[in-house]
Amino acid sequence: MFKNDLLAGKRILITGGGTGLGKSMGRRLVELGASLVICGRRREVLEATAAEFNAAFPGRTMPLTCDVRDPAAIETMLDQAWAVGPLDALVNNAAGNFIAKTETLSPRAVDAVLAIVLHGTAYMTLAVGKRWLAEERPGNVLSIITTYAWTGSAYVVPSAMAKAGVLALTRSLAVEWGSRKIRLNAIAPGPFPTEGAWKRLVPDSNLDAVWLHKVPLRRYGEHLELANLAAYLLADGSGYINGEVVTIDGGEWLKGAGQFNLMEMLSDAEWEAMRQRR
Ligand code: HXC
Ligand code: NAP
Repeated sequence: MFKNDLLAGKRILITGGGTGLGKSMGRRLVELGASLVICGRRREVLEATAAEFNAAFPGRTMPLTCDVRDPAAIETMLDQAWAVGPLDALVNNAAGNFIAKTETLSPRAVDAVLAIVLHGTAYMTLAVGKRWLAEERPGNVLSIITTYAWTGSAYVVPSAMAKAGVLALTRSLAVEWGSRKIRLNAIAPGPFPTEGAWKRLVPDSNLDAVWLHKVPLRRYGEHLELANLAAYLLADGSGYINGEVVTIDGGEWLKGAGQFNLMEMLSDAEWEAMRQRR
């Protein structure tokens, strides 16, 4: 759906770019001409992904280990990235999450998620943003959130708190940094199966069918659909979009929200019987 050189010349850092949706976005961005820096905690995972991308597009993907919870490690990584050339965009994709009854969570369990998602995203955004501001360079930050950033969700409470915070960060800095040519947006994906999310959040395969029923389009998202949306928001052609969150969920969250949406459970005979009773 795009010209192959849509992102030619752009250098984009993707946190958590070695696996799942980060990897799928990276594959598409590099295909569209971008150079990548991908980071995460596991070196072997990053190196395997970079080797795969570099086999198709030599020299365009640089794997750097970095724990986004560690501001000093972020500076080291950015020094290494900037030594090759300045970044044009940051994709805040790294996350941690699990399902649990909230009353069973220890303080460390709450912190484990908040530290990666909320603090890690803030540290990354500030570290990259400060460099752009100092160099008077335009920048683009895209954060991957969730639809429960605004609906909230039972059983993933630290994640909901953290993603809501990332949305607030996005909207706040879109205004504060906009006049200095740095824009910030977010994508809120619905269900896109990945190993990382599914083993923690959909551990019972019976839940799969229930989950699909929550989506009006009755299917999961395809990684390429999300990757194309990310490419659009990272391209200069979307340059007037700032402070926005784009939902890509097949209508899932609206289905949960609409007061009468549950009426889809009625059969045609039941609808007819109701009509007769009026
Ligand atoms: C209750 C749990 C728990 C669980 C960990 N803890 N898992 N408590 N239920 N399932 C508690 C531990 O007991 C410990 O507390 C504390 O959390 C820290 O655990 P660690 O294992 O030491 O944490 P850490 O090594 O920092 O790992 C962070 C993590 C892990 C979040 C727990 O899962 C991780 O690294 N995840 C990264 C990838 C990931 O989560 N991907 C999915 C993203 S999907 P105590 O008190 O016992 O010491 C996503 C999509 C949402 O966000 C929408 C999908 C549709
Ligand atoms: P995933 O494969 O588990 O991705 C998480 C990535 O984050 C991993 O590569 C992980 O690598 C990295 N990471 C975790 N903690 C880190 C840290 N402290 N420092 C640096 N990197 C860290 O899961 P995913 O499904 O692709 O999720 C990607 C994003 O999409 C997340 O923001 C998630 O919330 C969002 N999302 C996913 C879905 C879905 O249906 N899949 C739906 C809504 C939103 P290491 O473990 O090697 O560090």
